[in-house]
Amino acid sequence: MRMRNSLSWMVVAWMCGWMIVSTAESSSSSSLMQISADGQLLVCTNRDSGTATVVDLKTHEKLREVPLGYKPEGLTFLGQSHRCAACIYGDDQIVVFDADTGKILHRIDVFDEPYGIVSNHDGSTLYACLEYPGQILEIDAKQGKVTRKFDGGKFPRGLALASDDRTLYVTEYLTGTVRSFDVATGEELNNWPGLSTDNLARQIVLHPILDRAYMPHLRSKVSVAHGEGSIFPYVAIINTQPKPDDKPRKRIPMDSFRGTLVTANPWECDLSPDGQKLYVVFGGTDDIFVCDVLDDNYRELVYDSYLRTGHNPRAVKVAPDGEHFYVYNALDFQVVEYDTQTNQQTRAIEVCKVPYSEEHRTGKILFYTALQPMTGRRWISCSSCHPDGDPDGRTWQNPEGLRNTPSLAAVAWTHPLHWSADRDETQDFEHTIRGPLMQGRGLVLGRIAEALGEPLAGKSPLLDALTVYNNSHKIPLSPYSKNGLSAAAQRGRELFFSSKTQCAECHKAPFFADSNPVWPGKVHNVGTGEDDPSELMGPKYDTPTLLGVYRTAPYLHHGKAETLNEVLTTYNSDDKHGTTSHLSDAEIDDLVEFLKALPYEDPVPAAKAAGLKKVER
Ligand code: HEC
Ligand code: HEC
Repeated sequence: MRMRNSLSWMVVAWMCGWMIVSTAESSSSSSLMQISADGQLLVCTNRDSGTATVVDLKTHEKLREVPLGYKPEGLTFLGQSHRCAACIYGDDQIVVFDADTGKILHRIDVFDEPYGIVSNHDGSTLYACLEYPGQILEIDAKQGKVTRKFDGGKFPRGLALASDDRTLYVTEYLTGTVRSFDVATGEELNNWPGLSTDNLARQIVLHPILDRAYMPHLRSKVSVAHGEGSIFPYVAIINTQPKPDDKPRKRIPMDSFRGTLVTANPWECDLSPDGQKLYVVFGGTDDIFVCDVLDDNYRELVYDSYLRTGHNPRAVKVAPDGEHFYVYNALDFQVVEYDTQTNQQTRAIEVCKVPYSEEHRTGKILFYTALQPMTGRRWISCSSCHPDGDPDGRTWQNPEGLRNTPSLAAVAWTHPLHWSADRDETQDFEHTIRGPLMQGRGLVLGRIAEALGEPLAGKSPLLDALTVYNNSHKIPLSPYSKNGLSAAAQRGRELFFSSKTQCAECHKAPFFADSNPVWPGKVHNVGTGEDDPSELMGPKYDTPTLLGVYRTAPYLHHGKAETLNEVLTTYNSDDKHGTTSHLSDAEIDDLVEFLKALPYEDPVPAAKAAGLKKVER
């Protein structure tokens, strides 16, 4: 164990054989919920409402709700102050505001997708990560200006700044890799890769005393499309100062942490101020594990308590005095307070109104839950593979062949569904719910036909609600088109719409697809059906939308094309997928620049004008 020199306060703790004489200076970890250093205020961002809520922890009253923008995510207090900074994921902004007054102090435009944010001790410097394109920004909080940028890996989300204000820990969302950076130079200091199956690592916290960081995540085991073998919940434990014979990284399975009680979709965790307890919330099974932290370099965490909580808990924070902890139940729009001595709930505070219809809310609850009637065996929810409607970056070995998880953005406009266009309505996912993948009771009462074809819309209010949520995802504009199309993208556009390449024959504007919604779906053989011996439904596939492809690698139904360039070259060697063999390397690059700029305008007005149909339920 490492001792620190600058003792700000002393902790002497005896626990399962560990004694600590050290300091516990706080580190900063990004979360959508934070408590001010003086313990007076709790602030949370409400992704679906576009606001932040400020709660007075003495009176337990909601003081104010501050409008921030589209999809606010990570939040931090600026040092010991009552000023906050929040990442507005959907508006590509970082907003600095005063929690005491609600006044917005700065709106800082960034390239794309700010997710996590932390502050140094005196609140002068912020570090934020852009999930896309994978950058870390250093921000002068007073000036409201980005002062530096450095590479932060692929799809970074979780951030924690060590108590020395020098080392920044960053998690990669879709791989679970953890990296540490020297913030003075932007240089990578160390990295802790996970397994190839590790996925959805959103957040990381540092132990106040031990050389440990804790990161909840899942594993997506793509070779098994089955209710009890596909998705697993973990807390990864990073040894931040590993000695030569130490394991640098371990993982504690959360589905066997207490016997056979399976939990799903670990979202965030937090440590008590003395570092003796770790609280982990599970967004899929709506529950909490309270764990004892051991300093044994072996078991690391042991079971203390299990608590049920409300719908889709997405954040947990322990108050600085250690007396209470708070859980953000996203789909109840509530923060719930628990007493750390008794683990009893002491109150619930409404943070905002439900920002959409009850039907939409019901559908969203169903999409995120790993409980009945959606899931029989508690490991998987729809959101385990489609988190917030985004792809999980994986290609699954489904019974019908390799299938890359698509984004659900704009799916309401691009029916029919699936790469093979075999489903004409989201209600058909009743078959997924009842099938081997989820093994749920299902949402329709009674039996359904085994084969697809029987319309299920209108047969169950719950299934219709799931459909309403599923079809609600909007498509964000490409960050590459913010200043209009570049010269290269304009040249690419010419090529795309030319009769020689024929791209627009199938990828028709405004959604750059051709199905909307005809049934049976139009499918095409573009020469991509030969690469997978397990394929049972090829070689014809639905034309996927090209909107948003700048961030959805890998490509094609089988996920074998790593880049857009490969789609047009390696995987189109015989010109079956449009004609590309006549293009020079520079022209291919131009075409790729055009694809990356999609969408450069909101497709909906053009779609309405063209008489395309949006499928809402
Ligand atoms: C194990 C991961 C996984 C789970 C769990 C899962 N999906 Fe999917 N989803 C996929 C994959 C992979 C595809 C592509 C399959 C295909 O096209 O054949 C897909 C395709 C879809 C599509 C079609 C999108 C399009 O543009 O064609 C929709 C809609 C969808 N899923 C909704 C759901 C719903 C609703 C649930 C829960 C009932 C769910 N998914 C559960 C992985 C998953
Ligand atoms: C005959 C219809 C057709 C034409 C012409 C066509 N495409 Fe496609 N495109 C498809 C189909 C079908 C797929 C899905 C194939 C698969 O997944 O195996 C696809 C897939 C893609 C993808 C991958 C999208 C993803 O999310 O994985 C890109 C990129 C793409 N096309 C770009 C182009 C470009 C650029 C051109 C012109 C050179 C073009 N396409 C011409 C039908 C077409």
